[in-house]
Amino acid sequence: MPTDYIAYPVSTLTGSVRVPGDKSISHRSVMLGSIASGTTHVSGFLCGADAIATMNAFRSMGVRIDHQGDELTIHGVGRDGLTPPRQQIDLGNSGTAMRLMMGVLAGQAFDLRMTGDASLCSRPMGRIVDPLAAMGAVFETSDGRAPLAIRNSDRQRGLQGIRYVLPMASAQVKSAVLLAGLYASGTTCVHEPAPTRDHTERMLRGFGYGVQTQGAEICLQGGGELIACDIDVPADISSAAFFMVGASIATGSDLTLHHVGVNPTRTGILHILRRMGADIALSNEREVGGEPVADIRIRSAPLQGIEIPEAWVPLAIDEIPVVAIAAACASGVTRLTGAEELRVKESDRIMAIVSALQRLGIRAEETPDGFIVHGQGERSPNEPIFTAAEIDSHDDHRIAMAASIASLRAAGPVVIRDCDNVATSFPGYLEMANLLGLGLQDGVAG
Ligand code: S3P
Repeated sequence: MPTDYIAYPVSTLTGSVRVPGDKSISHRSVMLGSIASGTTHVSGFLCGADAIATMNAFRSMGVRIDHQGDELTIHGVGRDGLTPPRQQIDLGNSGTAMRLMMGVLAGQAFDLRMTGDASLCSRPMGRIVDPLAAMGAVFETSDGRAPLAIRNSDRQRGLQGIRYVLPMASAQVKSAVLLAGLYASGTTCVHEPAPTRDHTERMLRGFGYGVQTQGAEICLQGGGELIACDIDVPADISSAAFFMVGASIATGSDLTLHHVGVNPTRTGILHILRRMGADIALSNEREVGGEPVADIRIRSAPLQGIEIPEAWVPLAIDEIPVVAIAAACASGVTRLTGAEELRVKESDRIMAIVSALQRLGIRAEETPDGFIVHGQGERSPNEPIFTAAEIDSHDDHRIAMAASIASLRAAGPVVIRDCDNVATSFPGYLEMANLLGLGLQDGVAG
């Protein structure tokens, strides 16, 4: 039976925690550590189902990875040392794992098959197949989706470098092309329409691999070697975002989140919340392993509705569901545009969050590329904003967690259906949320 959450209304979030490690950086640490020469140590690794799927995939290709708590020791096999997996690779719910690995694996000498859960098998993979096929890779997909096969033995010759102009702002597509570029002859360049998370570029440099970034263009030469290094994975700002919004909307809150990754390609949530009037202070700003981190203190504050600048959307792409909860608690209207990518995430997140808001008693509308939310922030700080409701998470971890945050200003319990996938990105969410003051219970709601 799938797990449901029941979120009982409470009023304040307080305390100080470190949320689990960054999902994007955790995936990349396994991928690059596996194809590096030497031993890579990773600390702060996200032990969530998605990153574990990546780890198991590389283990199935002959990489020894020792895993203890949030520490990994990856015994890299070198750029060409992966061996054929015995079975098809199952990446569960993880789009990042599948898309980035398509880049790495298109450069191998062996054939393999990849699959995932129902959500992953419904997501578009043509966006990866197209540029990689232009480099010479051979894929067989199920109508542009997984399950898919990579037929490296059908390739006439090695991959060739390309210059690829990304049709959408996607770090996953950018990364897949760059990772395939490691195995290609000559230069591979990606031109992005707007800045997206640059963890791949930063981590490649950390492994001693030359990557040139000039404005919107990122280039590397194929054929080089990655040298093992140590990686300290910051806490995931995408996970921190739930508590940032929670503390902003729950009267009397005062919360500190430690060691949070604040890479400028990920800080759209800080820009959005600050423009809405949130009280957010960064301290102890430093750099760990090429990634900026900081401690973030959030105190409750009255929020105003805003027009979210489109340039901030890729910088906050995974945080938009919880931004919608903030918008409902703000005074005035919040408009999101330029976010059509949300329709092809783990769920159609525009549909999922707007219908969640509607069930919670908020006037909200979908638009093709975003939403309009009519905030209720004029109410007194102690008055509820949301009605008690039953919400469908659409099997999407970020919809489930965003809905749980609404309970901080709800008139009665919020029941959230199908929350098992919370473990893909935030293992221990329920316990940490309750430690900070949320009233979450899991079980099967009647
Ligand atoms: C990710 C990139 C984002 C994000 C995903 C993780 C990554 O997707 O939504 O959760 O690690 O590269 P796109 O940039 O492809 O939209």
